[in-house]
Amino acid sequence: MSNFRTSVTKQMGLYGQTLYSYWHFFKFTKLFFLSCFMMNTIVISTESSVSKVFIGETFNNLAKYLSADKVVIITDKEVNKHYGNSFPSSAPVIEIGRGEKHKTLETVQTIMSRLIEEEADRSTFVVGIGGGIVCDVAGFAASIFMRGLPFGFVSTTLLSQVDASVGGKNGVNYDRYKNMIGVFRQPEFVICDVEMLKTLDKREYRAGLAEIVKAAAIRNKKLFEYLEQHTNDILDLKTDIIEKIVYESVLIKSEVVEADEKEKGERRILNFGHTLAHAFEKLSGILHGEAVSIGMALAAKLSTRMGLLEEDTSRRLTDLLKKFGLPVSTDIDKDQLFAVIKHDKKREGDSIHLVLLNQLGNAIVEPVLYSKLQKMINDLY
Ligand SMILES: NC(=O)c1ccc[n+]([C@@H]2O[C@H](COP(=O)([O-])OP(=O)(O)OC[C@H]3O[C@@H](n4cnc5c(N)ncnc54)[C@H](O)[C@@H]3O)[C@@H](O)[C@H]2O)c1
Repeated sequence: MSNFRTSVTKQMGLYGQTLYSYWHFFKFTKLFFLSCFMMNTIVISTESSVSKVFIGETFNNLAKYLSADKVVIITDKEVNKHYGNSFPSSAPVIEIGRGEKHKTLETVQTIMSRLIEEEADRSTFVVGIGGGIVCDVAGFAASIFMRGLPFGFVSTTLLSQVDASVGGKNGVNYDRYKNMIGVFRQPEFVICDVEMLKTLDKREYRAGLAEIVKAAAIRNKKLFEYLEQHTNDILDLKTDIIEKIVYESVLIKSEVVEADEKEKGERRILNFGHTLAHAFEKLSGILHGEAVSIGMALAAKLSTRMGLLEEDTSRRLTDLLKKFGLPVSTDIDKDQLFAVIKHDKKREGDSIHLVLLNQLGNAIVEPVLYSKLQKMINDLY
């Protein structure tokens, strides 16, 4: 290198040396600048707090975001196996079980006991490092311990990056009901390092794509078209493309959450496909994103049936989901399905708030009589 430098500068004289110094400076600082420019930050400001989502940030920079003297990490076995070596070394690690069956009050109790053992106090900062289950549970445990500890997330699944860790819903399942117990409380930060998705099981990755399709379908037609045009790159996990679609999806969610943090109105559109999805998930044990995919396909058909959406548009949505390798139909018993929907926590009296599409990028919420929904699903099945 020094020979190269000498020969270049000799040939170019003083002017050349100055140019070379600039080049040299640029070479060694470009990585730093690139990493700064490539990271996108979305700030979510709600009545109660400000939450920052860092997309394209590397997990290795986690320590930079931790100013508290005491930090406790909550994760699961799989994430710990892949990334535990890079966790901040001084922080105790609480491992929870994997899967919906561990998203329970019992798990929260175990966390409480460990926090007491670790002598956590109000200034202790909790970091959830994992997918949606870890984030939902960690955020809930942090929110109720000593009436609330500050917390942040490193989101390690696609679904969690674009949906679960953003928006401040934290909670657990209870009895037969999903997310029945919980709080609204924003994480201080969310780190979305898309490189971490490379260790994720492919099926889990595809399940996350369902929530991106949802975001596009309800709010951003251009994003929907982008997904249609880049299906292969997305399935091949091309970093820049994934960062773009994660960014766009978080932006959609953040705008909706800022307008309606506590789900009194507009936030309901984020539930597109979810009323039916929760029932599918519960009855068949498929992944959350897979259930959302089937729920969206069915909700689009219902939208067409109600005269709101063109049939071609509904088909376009189903086609995209299929291209991502997601399921769009189910053979779940209808009676069981209705029984579960009847107990959905979003039910109000005899009707249920159904999220429907009237075009790509635009969702509407309609209260639909439970009996009418039952009839329509009967016709569609
Ligand atoms: N709070 C919200 O607003 C919200 C929104 C959507 C979904 N959710 C919830 O999110 C949950 C689903 O989250 P999920 O899809 O992330 O599933 P998950 O949390 O179960 O994670 C999926 C699996 O991948 C493993 N894993 C995670 N990151 C990994 C990585 N980088 N490399 C290798 N393996 C990894 C985990 O151990 C787990 O077994 C559901 O309970 C759902 O209700 C919440």
